[in-house]
Amino acid sequence: MLKTFSAAFVLLVASLVLSAQPNAASFDAVAKVFRLDGGGSSYRFGVNPRGELQQLYWGGRLAVADGFRQAEPKPEWASFDSSYNNTPQEYAGWGAGLFTEPALKVTFADGNRDLVLHYESHTAVANGFDVVMKDISRKIYVTLHYKMDPESGILARSATIENREAEPVTVEQAAAAAWALPPDHYTLNYLTGRWAGEWTLTQEPVYPGARVIESRRGSTGHQANPWFAIQAGDPNEEHGAVWFGALGWSGSWRITVEQDQLDQVRVTGGFNPFDFGYVLHPGERLETPVFYGGYSADGLGGASRLLQHYELAHILPRTAATAGEKYPRPRPVIYNSWEATEFNVNEAGQMVLAEKAAALGIDRFVMDDGWFGQRKDDHAGLGDWYVNKEKFPHGLKPLIDKVHSLGMDFGLWVEPEMVNPDSDLYRKHPDWVLNFPGRPRSEGRNQLVLNLARPDVRAYVYGFLDKLLTENQITFLKWDYNRNWSEPGWDQLSPAEQKRVYVAYTQNLYSILAELRQKHPNVEIESCSGGGGRVDLGILRYVDEVWPSDNTDPFDRLTIQDGFTYAYTPQIMMAWVTDSPHWLNKRTTSLEYRMLSSMQGSLGIGANIAKWSPEEMATAKRLIAAYHQVQPTIVQGELYRLISPRNGSEFSATESVRADKGQAVMFAFIHSTQEGLGFPILKLKGLDPTAQYELSPMEGKASVETPAVASGAWWMNHGLEMDASFRGDFQAAAFRLDRK
Ligand code: GLA
Repeated sequence: MLKTFSAAFVLLVASLVLSAQPNAASFDAVAKVFRLDGGGSSYRFGVNPRGELQQLYWGGRLAVADGFRQAEPKPEWASFDSSYNNTPQEYAGWGAGLFTEPALKVTFADGNRDLVLHYESHTAVANGFDVVMKDISRKIYVTLHYKMDPESGILARSATIENREAEPVTVEQAAAAAWALPPDHYTLNYLTGRWAGEWTLTQEPVYPGARVIESRRGSTGHQANPWFAIQAGDPNEEHGAVWFGALGWSGSWRITVEQDQLDQVRVTGGFNPFDFGYVLHPGERLETPVFYGGYSADGLGGASRLLQHYELAHILPRTAATAGEKYPRPRPVIYNSWEATEFNVNEAGQMVLAEKAAALGIDRFVMDDGWFGQRKDDHAGLGDWYVNKEKFPHGLKPLIDKVHSLGMDFGLWVEPEMVNPDSDLYRKHPDWVLNFPGRPRSEGRNQLVLNLARPDVRAYVYGFLDKLLTENQITFLKWDYNRNWSEPGWDQLSPAEQKRVYVAYTQNLYSILAELRQKHPNVEIESCSGGGGRVDLGILRYVDEVWPSDNTDPFDRLTIQDGFTYAYTPQIMMAWVTDSPHWLNKRTTSLEYRMLSSMQGSLGIGANIAKWSPEEMATAKRLIAAYHQVQPTIVQGELYRLISPRNGSEFSATESVRADKGQAVMFAFIHSTQEGLGFPILKLKGLDPTAQYELSPMEGKASVETPAVASGAWWMNHGLEMDASFRGDFQAAAFRLDRK
């Protein structure tokens, strides 16, 4: 009896404790308000009396009890801007006189193009809701998906558009989500660039009108990345409110940041509507990409730390070995042959490189381009995925066995979506490429894009990759993609249907990656597109790492890496040490400088190590060993960009702090000392003020007054001072702090 009572009591207490916990997602049926809370942020939206879904709040975390009354539409502004136009809607159809960016625009079979979406119903899902909307008279249903991460407060939003009409409907524009911010003075941050110059953080005020960030290229692109951060007031690394978002789509995309006629700011993103036209047949659905959004009160640094952890915990895939782990494991330190040999790969040469790589303490040996078909240079061979017999007379096995015997695993370069006109594949299947019949086929790097949307092309690409992975002990693929689209025709389909290619191509890319990973659960994949041309939260669900840039100049890389980390975790940021003088800038730098620049991310060596001196080998070996010891802190810790290398700064520095605050790793770089001025004292961040930390140099020296052991408070308030000898051009130092 007593036992039963106590069990019941425990249950009662447990349920009281549980009900006292704030729900991550709840619905106020009286006010018709949806509440989502997670981490330091809250999101509120409701059904207004007209039936529209209206955004009410997005920002710092509120109490669950904080009441919101039913959403009240904004009034009209004279006769020119209707209430429908002024009200910040969650997902506005283009209709009823909407002049701002619509989330959805369609044309019905009878020519009607008016679409007004009203709330129908909703269901609760884990940490969120599925909210169904429907046009006021037509059977177009849109289900909005909301899922908030309880830890970071990052909200994943997407939409499913369904046609239940009897006739086809053409979707001309479909966003994943629209985000609204209250009127204020904002700075927009976004990432722009070009081949060999990706990841420039661009900052500008949000002005009235629209700023469009996009790719029309068929893939993510080097020129802009689907990420934004909007800060109230001026940009600040560690302070102030920041709203940020990233779109998970590797096809043509668009993010529009608008300040409307009432100074309200909206961010709408999804499929790029340029040349878009997806015919939804009766009963068919279209899934939009996912648009992730978050809020931080701790400046751009706080925003990027949230996003980086979210990517590690919720976006990146796991291999068989890491299934169920909170984060994927840090990347193996790789060697890559590209800059050493370019297309001139062969069994003997690769074996020499493999021996040297093993002597350095490398974990993974990757053979790059040149091993297949008639691939002597970039004019031929893409599409012919058989081993070149002249270069590898006995196939890949002897090299792979050699690499394994040296204690490394083996990776291989592929570019599955492309074909050179000079290839057996193209001679056999000239119709397999994106093209408009009778029109020229524009080449980029002498290659054409296979139309992966075609079922036969998809089968071919999956088939050869599966065979390659089945027949060889390959644990890693560097998956390249070296041009953008042109003439994007798909002549198997009727003219009205051809634009489906913008969606179907990317869906097939994802499904091939997913299927390969399932069949070969130990294989890891890198997304490369002539460097950083395909990095986004869509592809990152299927790949373990990315190649941020073909530019491996260690000084340029500091800015590239700085920009990259605003949106992406250093874990996926592969960084090779290559030869000096550098091929691109002809800049000469020390091996120590090059090593430390690459050690800010996931380290690799891409130099011609066959020619390295014993001293160079020893330096690299020492620093690879030092890196291995602290790698998890660097690639998975809390990243503080202490001094930015941007805007011609003569100095730069970063600090990474392990999640338990037990370790920190600092990197400091000098571009060129001017007027004899020393390196600024680094006021560290994120440490435990009461803990004692011991300082150890990995490269370089601290000033003579620097204590060997001091409190977190000392390192954060007094700071870390470099030795007076830390001066000159292209100098680098690295330190670690370990809690005693
Ligand atoms: C692209 C990649 C390089 C290299 C070459 C090979 O440019 O970005 O790293 O793999 O292709 O052709």
